[in-house]
Formats: sequence, C-alpha cells, structure tokens
Amino acid sequence: MHPKEKPDVNKVKFGSVFTDHMFKMNYTVNKGWHDPKIIPYQPVTLDPAAMIFHYGQTVFEGLKAYRTEDDQILLFRPDQNFQRLNRSSERLSIPHVDEEEVLYYLKQLIALEKEWVPKGEGTSLYIRPFIIATENNLSVHPSACYTFMIILSPVAAYYPEGINPVRIYVEENFTRAVKGGTGTAKTAGNYSAAYNAQNEATKQGFSQVLWLDGVEKKYIEEVGSMNVFFKINGEIVTPALNGSILEGITRKSMIELLKSWDMPVVEKRLSMDELLEAYNQGLLEEAFGTGTAAVISPIGELIWRDQKMKINGGETGNVSKRLYDTLTGIQTGKKADSFNWTI
Ligand code: COI
Repeated sequence: MHPKEKPDVNKVKFGSVFTDHMFKMNYTVNKGWHDPKIIPYQPVTLDPAAMIFHYGQTVFEGLKAYRTEDDQILLFRPDQNFQRLNRSSERLSIPHVDEEEVLYYLKQLIALEKEWVPKGEGTSLYIRPFIIATENNLSVHPSACYTFMIILSPVAAYYPEGINPVRIYVEENFTRAVKGGTGTAKTAGNYSAAYNAQNEATKQGFSQVLWLDGVEKKYIEEVGSMNVFFKINGEIVTPALNGSILEGITRKSMIELLKSWDMPVVEKRLSMDELLEAYNQGLLEEAFGTGTAAVISPIGELIWRDQKMKINGGETGNVSKRLYDTLTGIQTGKKADSFNWTI
C-alpha cells in the first residue's frame, strides 16, 4: 500500500481528506461486537437493502487529536465521546460498545497514523467514530447487525470565519429537535433535517441559524450545529439541557473552565424576549457557539424578526477569546491541563 500524500490542511475543505487507515468492527446478535481490525482506508460495500439506507439507524461522534510543540499527540476527553456515543446508541436502539475497548482501538489507530496529525495553529486530526445498521431488510425494526468504524481527517478551522464573529438569524419556521425526539443524540437525521434552514440562511447572507424550542418557539436551544452561550450583565448563560439539546463536550468543558475562574455561569431556560430585553438595556455583552469542530464561533450580529442585535460591536468578546485560548491551549499542550482532560 502506498501512503497518500499529506495535504496542507489550510488549503483543503474540512473533512475532505482521510488518512491511510481506518478501524472497523462488526456486530451480530450471536457474536456481539467482533472482528475488530485496523485496515487500509477503503470503501464499504453494503447491500442496497442495508437498513442504514432506509431507516437512518446510525450514530456518530466527533473528537480531535492534537500535536503538541514537542511532537506528542494528545486526545481531548475521548472518554466523554464514547460515553455519549453509547447514549446516542441507546436512543437509536443500537447496541452499546465497550467504551474502554474502543478507546484502546482508537489509540492504536492514532499511533499508526500519527504522521497525519497536523502541526500549526488551529489544526488537528478530526476523528469520526460512527455506527451504521447493516441488516439487509426493509421491515421497520432495529437492525440485527451493525458496523462500527473510525475514520480520521486532518483539518484546520471549521468555519472560514475562524474565531471572527458571524451573522446569525433566529429560525422560526424549521425546528431542529423536540423533547422526546432525537435532539440529544448525535445522529445523522438531526443534521440533514437542518439543511433547509441552513440553505435559507446562506441565501440571505447569514452563517447559520439560532434554533428555538420546537413547541413554543420561544426558548433558545442551539446555534447551527453548536451549543450556544451568552454573556448577560456579567453572567454567562447557556440553555439548560432539556431533552432536545445536544450534550456538547465543548459546552461542558467551557462551563467547567468558567467555574474554575469563579465566573458566574448558569444553565437555564432563556427566551428570545429575555435576550432582546437584555440587548435593549445594553446588557447583552457577548454571544458565541461552541462545538468540537469550531471550538468557539462568536456571534457578531443576531437578527430576530425585525430586530437587529449587534453584539459587542460585532467584535470577538473577552470571554470568548479567553475560553478559546485556554481550551485550545490545553488541547495542544501549550497550557497546563489541571483538569486531566487530555490523554
Ligand atoms: C461539532 O462541532 O461538534 C459539530 O457537531 C459539527 C460536526 C458535525 C462537523
């Protein structure tokens, strides 16, 4: 096998180049998860009746490996990702994986592909573990067999804006998720169901949309494919996990960082009316999205109906900047990891 040429990650689109190897294992009812192996990166052959194509029974994760200045490779909180993978699987009626075992396989894969972990500000090796339903059957029921895979992609910033503030509008037609639905799971349908809203936003010159709750269309939930935070009168507010919001690992880490700095941070229900009122009183100081891919994406302008909120003069705020610098510092080994987040 000839190793592929490694790209300049700053010149390729996010998630468009893959490393030389991948991990794969299968599940059947009789054997459970079996046949784990690292193999050359290759297409997957599936029967057209494979259930993943028809009923969308699939879950995925996203995490990153970073290269430190002294060429060590660090993984950021992978235990959290495999825990969440199992929570997502539970929602989609997919069998659990052994979290420690898959972490062991991931480490083996990363060790083999360590040359692919890029060096340079904002770059990393994006890790995509995922599970698909592979039983060949068109009747509607949980699949009897599955394939778990891990693929790796060297990446730079997710959004072209990087940590520069983006323009967002508040989505009032489409809904991302409702309580009791699949919003808390990392599953394909949540993302493709957001494309119509995203397309409309792009058409109107916005980067993403701010999602509201699906029932009253009153309460703030997420932004694009990220969790969302606001700084209101000195307090950092993020929507409380309510059964329709994804439990972001970056979200959780930001909250833990803010608490360690003794900054007031609350998880609560926050309505658009409250946000607008805070803005009108001059108390809305910062807004930003958080996620694995982008880390932080500050919101410079927020449009809701006929109201335009320019936040922090359209500039990146101090808290956003400090969170970004600290988290990426820990992830890349530049800052002390007092939380033991990296391994
Ligand atoms: C993340 O940043 O965590 C995301 O969900 C985006 C990813 C699906 C590319």
